[in-house]
Amino acid sequence: MMMWHNKFVVVGVTGGIAAYKAAELVSVLTREGAEVQVIMTASAQQFITPLTLQTLSKNPVIVDMFAEPKAWEVQHVALADKADLFLVVPATANLIGKVANGIADDMLTTTIMATRAPVVFAPAMNVHMYANPIVQMNIHKLRGFYHFVEPGSGRLACGYEGKGRLAELSEILETAGRVLNSGTSAQQTPGEYSNRVVTNINDQLEAQQCGVADYSGLTVLVTAGATREAIDPIRFITNRSTGKMGFAIAEAAARRGARVILVAGPTNLPAPPGVELVAIESARDMYAAVTEHYPGVDVVIKSAAVADYRPKQRAGQKIKKGEGDLILELERNPDILAQLGKTKQRQVLVGFAAETNDLIRHASDKVRRKNLDFIVANDVTQAGAGFGTDTNMVKFIFPTGEIHELPMMPKSEVAGAILDQVLVILRQRDKE
Ligand code: C5P
Repeated sequence: MMMWHNKFVVVGVTGGIAAYKAAELVSVLTREGAEVQVIMTASAQQFITPLTLQTLSKNPVIVDMFAEPKAWEVQHVALADKADLFLVVPATANLIGKVANGIADDMLTTTIMATRAPVVFAPAMNVHMYANPIVQMNIHKLRGFYHFVEPGSGRLACGYEGKGRLAELSEILETAGRVLNSGTSAQQTPGEYSNRVVTNINDQLEAQQCGVADYSGLTVLVTAGATREAIDPIRFITNRSTGKMGFAIAEAAARRGARVILVAGPTNLPAPPGVELVAIESARDMYAAVTEHYPGVDVVIKSAAVADYRPKQRAGQKIKKGEGDLILELERNPDILAQLGKTKQRQVLVGFAAETNDLIRHASDKVRRKNLDFIVANDVTQAGAGFGTDTNMVKFIFPTGEIHELPMMPKSEVAGAILDQVLVILRQRDKE
């Protein structure tokens, strides 16, 4: 890992049970040639001693801003400027909350505020704290500016997976390395992202205060994966969709308390806990399943990659090869989403637009033509977006022309952002 050689890494350690794992991280980074400066919060010292981290980092650990008179005035700025990368491991709900709200009341928060270096947070906390909507909103807000390594999951007594355990060290190092290498200097500049998203967050906070930021009592229909259009009993036409995005949405909605119906094409993914899986093959199967459930659902999220065409004739027997070429005639499949848009009552309709060119123009056209509430648009030619990846980079495009741009994030988090946005729309409806 030559990448760490001579890099100046500030490691922020906050007061959680996982603080001891920061010791190993510091040790690996130092071994790899990085210069490591540790900043601890006051409560972190309850979990690990500054002396341990000082020994491993070979640098004095900073805890108290005012310990050396006068020095503090410049030290946070000096460290902030010098850093190539900030790693906050573990990041508690408290630290995340402070940074998300512009609070800088100790050395760590002050230095994070002053730095232009990229910052990676590795949250670790109790599963219920992590699931708390306020914590999630803070993370969502910070995602526009900083990087996150998602905590790991553990099974909860209720049968769902709960998140909160600090990510594996290897994963933290991998993300940190990627961020360092990507050369994305610091946070995204506010103009690019924050204005729109911050209003969005405010809407969400408002929704939260009104007690509707939860999916209990709501039925969500999600479609996922590719359809298969049979040519003969052996062959079919399909596409590259794996279903990961739709399964992540179904899982997140179930975790938030929704009844979830997941209509999915053939996939290797296991059904998420608590989700009603309706397995289909062709676009026409999907059409039948979706229209059957449509009248009883509150939200439809159509992430499936539905085949637009199917072979006009499905041969009853395997087609034998002949001497010449074979011409396959295709006919149009029904556009399921457009049909739902036509008969929309109170449902919130969310579509997906995977494009390879003119993303915004095509997606904006679809959102209006199909009468959707918004469309999740992604340029599938970009690295880290589209089929088969675990991450996605999407834009929400609204019929008004408004666009919310999200940074690259794991599909599970894109799922959360979509569900947050749907709640904002439901909340506005309730007001009307
Ligand atoms: O027009 P396009 O196929 O790109 O639109 C994509 C959106 O429409 C997706 O949400 C997809 O699930 C949906 N769709 C559909 N039925 C089709 C084709 C696409 O519901 N036949």
